[in-house]
Amino acid sequence: MEHTVTTATIELRHYRHDDLPQIRQTLLDVHADAYADEMDDEFNQKFPWFVDHWGKNPGFACVIAYDQDEPVGFAYGAPAAPGREWWREHLSSPPEDPSTFSFSELMVRPKWRKTGVSEQLHTALVRPRPEAHAVLLVDPDHPKVQALYEEWGYRTIGRQQPFPDSPNFAVMLLPLGAGRDENLA
Ligand SMILES: CC(C)(COP(=O)(O)OP(=O)(O)OC[C@H]1O[C@@H](n2cnc3c(N)ncnc32)[C@H](O)[C@@H]1OP(=O)(O)O)[C@@H](O)C(=O)NCCC(=O)NCCS
Repeated sequence: MEHTVTTATIELRHYRHDDLPQIRQTLLDVHADAYADEMDDEFNQKFPWFVDHWGKNPGFACVIAYDQDEPVGFAYGAPAAPGREWWREHLSSPPEDPSTFSFSELMVRPKWRKTGVSEQLHTALVRPRPEAHAVLLVDPDHPKVQALYEEWGYRTIGRQQPFPDSPNFAVMLLPLGAGRDENLA
């Protein structure tokens, strides 16, 4: 029987750096399903490297959504290293409080899309953060994803290509907490 997805059954669980060995395979499994149609892309094939890169950061924070114990999506990130925030070359002057959370990944398995799980994951990960801003990189060839982030309050401030084989990403910034009231140039 087809399983009907309702957000009522979604549980969000928080994880940190020390939990990486426990959740690593779950992240890889969710990614394999979320990107099943795009796994011929070499950048997507590097996902295990990215999981380890982000997961080794002592400030790594991750939220995984479970539907009755089945992992269906996740969001993760880590505090940006001061001076190396993705917004740095795109603002004419740094914000008064430059503390920034780099929102690195968000994905939801196809069956659980359009249910609100993605926004729940984003809210659970980013809203409790102590930093003044969240920043993310999104492929501008995916304008509907970019539009989703705009709905959640992000604005595009520039472009950045972190690796030669990565997309030329749009950089998007979201003021958090007290930072919401700052007038960013
Ligand atoms: C991004 C994501 C979490 C959003 O989930 P959601 O809020 O349930 O929203 P949807 O899946 O309906 O996506 C919104 C729109 O963006 C499009 N979209 C989503 N991911 C896309 C991608 N990787 N490439 C191109 N378009 C994409 C969807 O087709 C949808 O368009 P539609 O409204 O015409 O159907 C989910 O689509 C996903 O996991 N996508 C693959 C991973 C991804 O792209 N993550 C973002 C990296 S910055």
